[in-house]
Amino acid sequence: MYNFSSSDYCFLCFGGFVNLLLRLGMCLVVLALASYTTSMFALIRHRRIVPNVRRFLVMGVALDLMATLCMILGSSHGPLTLHGCLGYSALLFMLVDMIWILRFESRSGREEQIPGKLLYISVAAYSWWVLAFLAGAMLAMRMPH
Ligand code: HEM
Repeated sequence: MYNFSSSDYCFLCFGGFVNLLLRLGMCLVVLALASYTTSMFALIRHRRIVPNVRRFLVMGVALDLMATLCMILGSSHGPLTLHGCLGYSALLFMLVDMIWILRFESRSGREEQIPGKLLYISVAAYSWWVLAFLAGAMLAMRMPH
């Protein structure tokens, strides 16, 4: 895996440890956060699968997958770390939530209100993902600059 060198750039401070793949991964994960947040706000507001719910949820999962791949490739510790496992669980939770949302939409259509249980699962998945995101941000802040 990648070894940091002093010539690498840091996404947070523009001059430090972080290699290009990690920087790309961190940019993508911030975009995933924006996408998931937009989708969740639309879901909570409308309680239905309006186009923005599906659009931004699918985009968030795609960005999250790409970010995870970049972070694995750019990591100096390999794929199996505490941060990695927390991230995989959060990604998996969002992926399962997306599948349930899409299944509900294809069975019941856009006009049907989503059941409280599905809304609860979606908010739980999103909250878990945000926790994993914050843990990642803390990891990045604690790395040598
Ligand atoms: C929930 C979303 C996230 C997922 C799925 C994820 C996934 C991963 C994975 C699988 C690795 C490789 C294993 C490791 O080195 O720990 C990794 C590394 C890393 N991630 Fe994330 N991550 C997420 C969020 C973040 C955030 C928000 C940041 C900072 C802004 C971040 C910064 C890093 C850094 C700096 C590494 C390299 C650690 C090292 O080489 O020691 N991650 N991430």
